[in-house]
Amino acid sequence: MAEDPRKPTTNDAGNPVASDEYSLTVGPNGPIVLHDHYLIEQMAQFNRERIPERQPHAKGSGAFGRFEVTEDVSRYTRAAVFQPGTETEVLMRFSTVAGERGSPDTWRDPRGFSIKFYTSDGNYDMVGNNTPVFFMRDPMKFQHFIRSQKRRADNNLRDHDMQWDFWSLSPESAHQVTWLMGDRGIPRTWRHMNGYSSHTYLWVNAEGEKFWVKYHFKTDQGIECLTQEEADRLAGEDSDYHMRDLYAAIDRGEHPSWTLYMQIMPFREAETYRFNPFDLTKIWPHEDYPLIKVGKLTLDTNPVDNHAQIEQAAFEPNNLVPGIGLSPDRMLLARGFSYADAHRARLGVNYKQIPVNAPKVPVHSYTKDGAMQTRTVTDPVYAPNSKGGPRADGERYPDDTTWETDGDMVRTAYTLREDDDDFGQANALVNQVMDEPARERLVSNVVKHLLDGVTQPVLERAFDYWRSVDAEIGERIARGVREKQS
Ligand code: NDP
Ligand code: HEM
Repeated sequence: MAEDPRKPTTNDAGNPVASDEYSLTVGPNGPIVLHDHYLIEQMAQFNRERIPERQPHAKGSGAFGRFEVTEDVSRYTRAAVFQPGTETEVLMRFSTVAGERGSPDTWRDPRGFSIKFYTSDGNYDMVGNNTPVFFMRDPMKFQHFIRSQKRRADNNLRDHDMQWDFWSLSPESAHQVTWLMGDRGIPRTWRHMNGYSSHTYLWVNAEGEKFWVKYHFKTDQGIECLTQEEADRLAGEDSDYHMRDLYAAIDRGEHPSWTLYMQIMPFREAETYRFNPFDLTKIWPHEDYPLIKVGKLTLDTNPVDNHAQIEQAAFEPNNLVPGIGLSPDRMLLARGFSYADAHRARLGVNYKQIPVNAPKVPVHSYTKDGAMQTRTVTDPVYAPNSKGGPRADGERYPDDTTWETDGDMVRTAYTLREDDDDFGQANALVNQVMDEPARERLVSNVVKHLLDGVTQPVLERAFDYWRSVDAEIGERIARGVREKQS
């Protein structure tokens, strides 16, 4: 008789078990017994399968791939990952912001665009979105913003009234809201959208020369979007539409890719540029800072265990490598704290030892112990020491991703420059980028959104908000709402 090729089932200690179907009972019709450890292991493990979802960006998925540097940008950064010809393994995760883990992929929302580069200098994370700007410029407002997008306290429902209440009291959101209500507010798939760092970062070259930079990952599949009607239909028919699309495309060998371009601003130009280049509600016009090509990111491998490799993935903007730093953008500086804190709360203090988060280079750190510690720590456990432990090498790895600053501590807005305003770039988007059919879809999307539960005086404020973006668009929106209300 041919031997059964299947492996015998074991419990989690590796002990072979007698049955996958029957618990241990006293006689065929009697009670089950407490020492049926295998049954208890099954029940107990099952009860602990769910972990907390991410606070924002709970719904998403991702894949593995590689980033190849095709051009020479070594005059701008010494980061190993961006040196000519370098190829680096990556993990990417896409997501929506406001919905829960089971929410529809096609809700109108920004999409997360997270990349973990497993570089020769440890992990470098670029945690971006599919939009080049954001809703606010001070992290004090981020938590409030996310709450306004999620659910009310009383009925646990999402509520457009609170969304427009927040937005219309936060004029700096106008550029991002205009972008969101336009065509790109619902991508057809994750493959058909761009990704942006949105923030300004700092690059430093081998000579110590500094540059302010923004990342643009442009889709090689071309931009494609869903209309509101298509998205609404898909939300009912296939709430996992984007997740399914990415997995199926990679599975059939259609590997999506993005070309990375940078906008690069010489360090000193930031001081005199006509608006604050660190303000996250603004883009840098391409005319002033043209796109410079760097390389290509390709996704070619699906996860085999979505929980272990995607749900437990921990991206954090503070994972930086030599040659790349943060910038004075307050939002970015706050993110430098927030993510690792979220991971400690959600995944536990040793989350960087979960294989998908572990760097592909040796770790020589002095952290030790804690729940779920799996790394074998050896003496000495302190520094400085004369016992041969690791020693920080400031000559080889100088901390030069810095900038000068001074002044008293204050709680105030950024200092305004000549072209710093809340509505100018939103107006450019409406009038210089969108054509008339796109403007008509923008008006229609906003009207529909406002008609869904927005009350006075929020509604009137929303009309004024749009009049500030563009007088005519504001009138068209006000008229559209009033016509449907009458
Ligand atoms: P450009 O004409 O050089 O660039 C226009 C940009 O708008 C392109 O990046 C294009 O992306 C993008 N775009 C096209 N249609 C839409 C849409 N419906 N929604 C959102 N973006 C769209 O102009 P500027 O650089 O001077 O920027 C003008 C405005 O364009 C800005 O105020 C901003 O709102 C928007 N924009 C600018 C970006 C930037 O980094 N400069 C990036 C994205 C948007 P693509 O080339 O991929 O089609
Ligand atoms: C996820 C905080 C702004 C992109 C998260 C998470 C937190 C957070 C706590 C959940 C992390 C987790 O549990 O894994 C903040 C704060 C911000 C901010 C405090 C501003 C002060 C932004 C901006 C962007 C962004 C501006 C894009 C440019 C993302 C993405 C994720 C995320 C893509 C999902 C990461 C993943 O795929 O796992 N954010 N965020 N966030 N955020 Fe932010």
